Amino acid sequence: MTEPRYTVRHYVSQDCDDAQLMMNLMVFGASHTKDGSDGLVKMRVLFAASEVAPLIKTGGLADVGAALPAALRAIGVDVRVLLPGYTVVMAQCQSYDVVTTFSTLVGFPPARLLSGKMANGVPLFVLDCPALYQRDGGPYQDAHGNDWPDNAKRFGLLSKVAALLGGRASPLAWHPNLVHCNDWQTGLTPAYLHFQQGAVPSIMTLHNLAFQGNFPAETVQTLGLPASSLNMEGLEFHGFMSFLKAGMFYADHITTVSPNYAKEIQQDELGFGMQGLLADRNHELTGILNGIDVDEWNAASDPYLVKHYNSNDLSGKATNKQAVQKRLGLNPDPDVPLLGVVSRFTHQKGLDLLLEIAPRLMDLPVQLAMLGSGDAAMQQAARDLSERYPGKIAVMIGFSEALSHQIEAGADMFIMPSRFEPCGLNQMYSQRYGTPPIVHATGGLSDSVVDCTPQTLVDGSASGFVFSGMTANNLSNTIQRAIRLYRERKDWQALCKNCMAKDFSWETSAKAYLDVYRKVLGR
Ligand code: ADP
Ligand code: GLC
Repeated sequence: MTEPRYTVRHYVSQDCDDAQLMMNLMVFGASHTKDGSDGLVKMRVLFAASEVAPLIKTGGLADVGAALPAALRAIGVDVRVLLPGYTVVMAQCQSYDVVTTFSTLVGFPPARLLSGKMANGVPLFVLDCPALYQRDGGPYQDAHGNDWPDNAKRFGLLSKVAALLGGRASPLAWHPNLVHCNDWQTGLTPAYLHFQQGAVPSIMTLHNLAFQGNFPAETVQTLGLPASSLNMEGLEFHGFMSFLKAGMFYADHITTVSPNYAKEIQQDELGFGMQGLLADRNHELTGILNGIDVDEWNAASDPYLVKHYNSNDLSGKATNKQAVQKRLGLNPDPDVPLLGVVSRFTHQKGLDLLLEIAPRLMDLPVQLAMLGSGDAAMQQAARDLSERYPGKIAVMIGFSEALSHQIEAGADMFIMPSRFEPCGLNQMYSQRYGTPPIVHATGGLSDSVVDCTPQTLVDGSASGFVFSGMTANNLSNTIQRAIRLYRERKDWQALCKNCMAKDFSWETSAKAYLDVYRKVLGR
């Protein structure tokens, strides 16, 4: 470990943070910041996650990891985030202070805890453990897409430290009232808390049940958990130890990222084997739709756009479309509908259906712009299509924050045919940018997009195109339905404006999380 660009100090929380909270209370109004007894909410929450934007991001968890804590602070909750110190994170946190060290955690290499503030003002603890986190590659996989072989240890440590900070033996002066865990990477925290003296309650948020963190059974002992926990009434799952099962079993409350997904995961089809446990805990399971960061995703001020626009005047959208066409080598035709995709290329996202129907779509006046990466075969199929239809299909393999914003704004329609989607953020970003999404009726997509029918168009609720039945034909027919409406300029404009009028801000969802916190704490 290279010592220290950092100064070691004991972490004494507060003053300026509380002043900041007071400011927020004044700005956002006191009505929802009172707890009915002594004024302020006065709740301290440790929010543990494996991704937080913009420090480290592979998907929507990172967006939520940044925006939800900020929204909770805005309603008076003292939330602080805990994140692993991956190489890219450490590079961005060089001015952080070391607040404590962990040299004797059985089974884990030495680590230390840094403290600082994210750009959005949320206090951040970074868990620096070079032996586990300092390496090239992604947070979960190496550069070739293979899972890191020591992932159990890497996220075991994250889970363990989150639990330590929520226990009596915490080395910090700041003591959370509860720990809020996210996905399997922090799934062991509720288990560690359960076996720890004087621990606070925990919440487990499921962002995606498909990723479970299942490891060989014997891993349990190497992570300092009692062998007795490897039980059906514990963290055992089909002979494995499961981080996510641990979280769902031991947490005081489970939340997931949309109301519809909360129902779906209690059924066989989308329960990924956990449906029994989830149905049993039904009364302690709450679906809360994610919000979006409406400042970052704002067509009127987005620095990535070549021209700003708003719902009163969408004319700037055409300029953004032209810029995307130019950047991606598509024909510079303003009248041909441009379909946009920004996505992980995985089975979940259903892009195989889009690739399958793309040749058929090419008989229509339509263009397709795809940004994403993932499954090698899907990437190749997408590249092949772009070579076969130059000027009509463009594919960018990789991760680009700038291009993702530009496609959301420049496309006429956004395609998201996910097989399952716990929440999904892109369909909300696209609506905010006046780009009606075309989505499969599943999870959070059903909760956030209203299908365009003559009726919903008239009553002003229509905000996209929704298809049921995950087949290539259904997707193709729905795209054609959207293209027909695109030709009706007045109706199309009305639809785009409906999209932009929708409120996807975090405030409502943050209040719903606060309700869950209160319930768990019995307040
Ligand atoms: P998931 O987390 O399942 O991938 P979400 O819709 O919740 O799906 O969130 C995906 C997030 O990742 C969005 O912020 C989206 O813009 C972003 N994203 C996905 N792929 C890319 C990419 N290739 N380049 C830039 N951003 C991307
Ligand atoms: C997961 C889900 C996605 C959700 C995101 C943030 O990655 O796949 O649907 O929007 O988490 O909660």
